[in-house]
Amino acid sequence: TRTQVGIVGAGPAGLMLAHLLHRAGIDSVAVDSRSREEIEHTHRAGILERDSVRMLVDTDVSDRVLREGYQHEGIALRFNGVSHRIDFQDLVGASVWLYPQTDVFVDLANARDRDGGDVRFGVGDTRVVDTTSDRPGILCTDADGVEQEIRCDILVGADGSRSMTRHEVTDRRQYHREYPFAWFGILCEAPPSAPELIYTRSDRGFALISQRTDAIQRMYFQCPPDEKVDDWSSDRIWGELQTRLAGEDGFSLKEGRILEKSVLPFRSFVCEPMRYGNLLLAGDAAHTVPPTGAKGLNLALADVRVLAEVLEQVIVRGKREALDDYTPRALARVWKAQHFSYWMTTMLHASGDASEFDVRRQLGELEAVTGSAHGAAYLAEAYTGWPRA
Ligand code: DHB
Repeated sequence: TRTQVGIVGAGPAGLMLAHLLHRAGIDSVAVDSRSREEIEHTHRAGILERDSVRMLVDTDVSDRVLREGYQHEGIALRFNGVSHRIDFQDLVGASVWLYPQTDVFVDLANARDRDGGDVRFGVGDTRVVDTTSDRPGILCTDADGVEQEIRCDILVGADGSRSMTRHEVTDRRQYHREYPFAWFGILCEAPPSAPELIYTRSDRGFALISQRTDAIQRMYFQCPPDEKVDDWSSDRIWGELQTRLAGEDGFSLKEGRILEKSVLPFRSFVCEPMRYGNLLLAGDAAHTVPPTGAKGLNLALADVRVLAEVLEQVIVRGKREALDDYTPRALARVWKAQHFSYWMTTMLHASGDASEFDVRRQLGELEAVTGSAHGAAYLAEAYTGWPRA
């Protein structure tokens, strides 16, 4: 096959890029080792920034997010057993939408079908070759095991946090931060306990009360990184969540049947540069953030918006030098989001080696953020998404 842009990875980053390129008159082929069903059933975060929603709607992916998503005009930060609302509309005039990543994927996959896009799920033995030549390629086997060769002008690695395309960037520098904890996540059958998300700091660690629908809720609590899902009965999970959410302000956490439980990985990572020759990285392939603040998907969408603009310059207007713009433009947002995700994480999680000073300082920080419109406005601006660069 011959195409203009070969994309490794057909998750939200790869498919959104293919969609934006199609609108610019550029054709692409996207491949993914996973099946469409497998991606559809991988639970990920559920919060879209204002501009992520606009991108879905304004570029005609789907307006389902507006019909089936839930607009949230704020969140609560809870500590010492009391919730403090951060009012996004009041502070920065913006909202976020609760709309799960799996639905974003379904909408993008349907839009690719509608527009006749070439997306190949379930491929095997994927390799990228000749990344510095003017005819790079993707080699793989299709779902029937038949060898495929896709030659293109530009290659994109949108193959997630365990990216193999990243390893082609031989001059890369990698920046990491590990955390001494992870998240235990559940999906349960219960009514919502509150109209908005609750980010909670307790002496036993962080907890997040999120939602999916009027009947299904998503919740998380901080746990050790090596926690075993099977060690947690429903009773133990509810006991832990109730203890972390307890307070005198009348909040009551509604329980229900637990449908799924899993332990989520947790780290900060950036790969620089995000380009090598004619290969460009996007989304988790180039950077991951800890989940606190739900920036992962939003960052991936911001990357591909920049990348689509750059590729239009290169492919339609013949301005090859535009490739140099990608890394600095994408990384400017990435590092702001790295800071925000790190900050939300450290402000709300309990660290095993925290001193009494550290604990009181952390509570002072939460008081400063929630007690001041200036402090809260930074959180609101970052959470709802910085304006486009
Ligand atoms: C969800 C996940 C997050 O990491 C977050 O900060 C907010 C919401 C979620 O899955 O609903």
